[in-house]
Amino acid sequence: MDGEASSVYIVLYSVMPTSFSHVFDTPVYQGKTSFPTGVFINGQFRDGSEDTTIDVINPTNGSTITKVPEATAKDVDIAVEAAQKAFETVWGLNRPGSERSRLMIKLASAMEACADELAALDALDNGKTFNWAKAIDVPFAIELIRYYAGWADKIHGQVMETTEGKLTYTRHEPIGVVGQIIPWNYPLMMMCMKIGPALATGNCVVLKPSEFTPLSALRMCSLLKEVGFPPGVVNVLVGYGHTVGNAISTHNGIEKVAFTGSTLTGRKVMEAAAKSNLKNVTLELGGKSPNVIFNDADLEQAVNWSFWGIFWNHGQACIAGSRIFVQSGIYDKFLEKFTEKTKTIKMGDPFAADTYQGPQVSNIQHDRITGYIKSGKEQGATVHYGGEPYSGEGYFVNPTIFVDAKPDMKIMQEEIFGPVCCVVKFEDEDDVIRQANDTIYGLAAAVFSKNIDRALSVAHKLKAGSIWVNSYSHISVNAPFGGFKQSGIGREFGEEALHNYVNVKSVHVNLGLAVPEV
Ligand SMILES: *[C@@H]1O[C@H](CO)[C@@H](O)[C@H](O)[C@H]1NC(C)=O
Ligand SMILES: *[C@@H]1O[C@H](CO)[C@@H](O)[C@H](O)[C@H]1NC(C)=O
Ligand SMILES: *[C@@H]1O[C@H](CO)[C@@H](O)[C@H](O)[C@H]1NC(C)=O
Ligand SMILES: *[C@@H]1O[C@H](CO)[C@@H](O)[C@H](O)[C@H]1NC(C)=O
Repeated sequence: MDGEASSVYIVLYSVMPTSFSHVFDTPVYQGKTSFPTGVFINGQFRDGSEDTTIDVINPTNGSTITKVPEATAKDVDIAVEAAQKAFETVWGLNRPGSERSRLMIKLASAMEACADELAALDALDNGKTFNWAKAIDVPFAIELIRYYAGWADKIHGQVMETTEGKLTYTRHEPIGVVGQIIPWNYPLMMMCMKIGPALATGNCVVLKPSEFTPLSALRMCSLLKEVGFPPGVVNVLVGYGHTVGNAISTHNGIEKVAFTGSTLTGRKVMEAAAKSNLKNVTLELGGKSPNVIFNDADLEQAVNWSFWGIFWNHGQACIAGSRIFVQSGIYDKFLEKFTEKTKTIKMGDPFAADTYQGPQVSNIQHDRITGYIKSGKEQGATVHYGGEPYSGEGYFVNPTIFVDAKPDMKIMQEEIFGPVCCVVKFEDEDDVIRQANDTIYGLAAAVFSKNIDRALSVAHKLKAGSIWVNSYSHISVNAPFGGFKQSGIGREFGEEALHNYVNVKSVHVNLGLAVPEV
């Protein structure tokens, strides 16, 4: 059921809310939002097959924002069928790239027209500040859709030089139905970074947003309809990992799955893919990224970017610079200035103008992070700043800086995914390269130095998919992004991401050659 029809549906059959309305009357945003919710399959919002709902929680105080229909494994079957039909009739090879591009550009414009509303929805169920969502998440999400719209009519193969008697060429064909499972830390951005390359290359999508942050994805479903994406091209199923996520990973009708989330779950997705139809996987997983600051760095620049590197989005970033290595010559000065800056963090309502840090997304995350803080203390690290429990309501965690952390401590090895970092002293380059590499992860890293030789040589030695020189967490839509080691498989963003969504076919055309004779 969709649009206006949904209210009729409520009256006749269902006790479930199938739409969401909210009035934002906040210091940073005044506006109204109202849109249908539900399991979005074949262009329609429906109740889930099991008639169950998921509570969407406001992390600021734990109250329920709304209930949305829950998708389950059976809905994945229905969605795959709809996606297959769309692929075979109105999408895939049946819709020229130029037309896919046009629709995607329209989508980007529609997003732009309700940019503040999208930012407010991400702030509401995620707890990130409206100001950051508006300044970064939403514009980046729109840019991703525009960027991949630009590729949609530029997907082509090659002609291979063979012999005069033969023409050989490749085609980059869409795979078909692809599954995409995204996390809660950048809800809108993650959705766009997944559907962008998939749609540009002509695939149909079955996407599972996080059950914690479904609102912006559901709003996007209305936009997809509004701009004219044919039914079934994008299907959005809000549900849990062990049901919908598992059904996507094991489904024989899905020939590719892209997952962003923890390394633990990534392993399960890959296992499920291997045990079912050997679908190809792209995994963007955890990190424990080193941020290396040399004596000859611009101190203020290093402090500012390191601060952003760990505290942006409340530390809920796979690329968070959670291990900050500082050379002994500037260690004390760095720590002093970095701590001073950390003290300026204003925690509170994501919709207040001066809030830098809102709550963590959920109770589970809150408890995980505070568990790590406890473990750091127990294992003998020193809390330099923060560390004590937050005293008010909501899932807030005080920004925390550890010193004296040893390489084998959990806070130095495991992804905390919160506003918690270790500042560690190092002596020389070899020493810090060795320490930086001492983790199972390899997602991102940074090096601060005004000496270009040193900066680049260290950048080349660090084992990570993205390296920043004299900045941190500064990603670009056209630069590949992904992990070394257990941080993942494959690359997103840029031209690179298109490779995840095409089957390469070689066509050999005989122009009169006879069978070879021995
Ligand atoms: C939770 O906070 C929201 C605003 O952020 C407010 O509308 C709601 O009434 C609060 N609920 C409780 C139970 O405090
Ligand atoms: C560092 O941040 C402060 C406060 O935002 C700003 O005033 C200053 O210009 C920044 N310095 C550099 C080098 O970026
Ligand atoms: C660090 O790098 C070396 C290769 O230079 C590798 O053999 C080793 O396993 C790495 N350490 C970790 C923990 O990944
Ligand atoms: C499989 O996925 C990997 C990682 O995303 C990608 O590099 C590779 O090109 C894909 N292979 C096929 C056949 O799609």
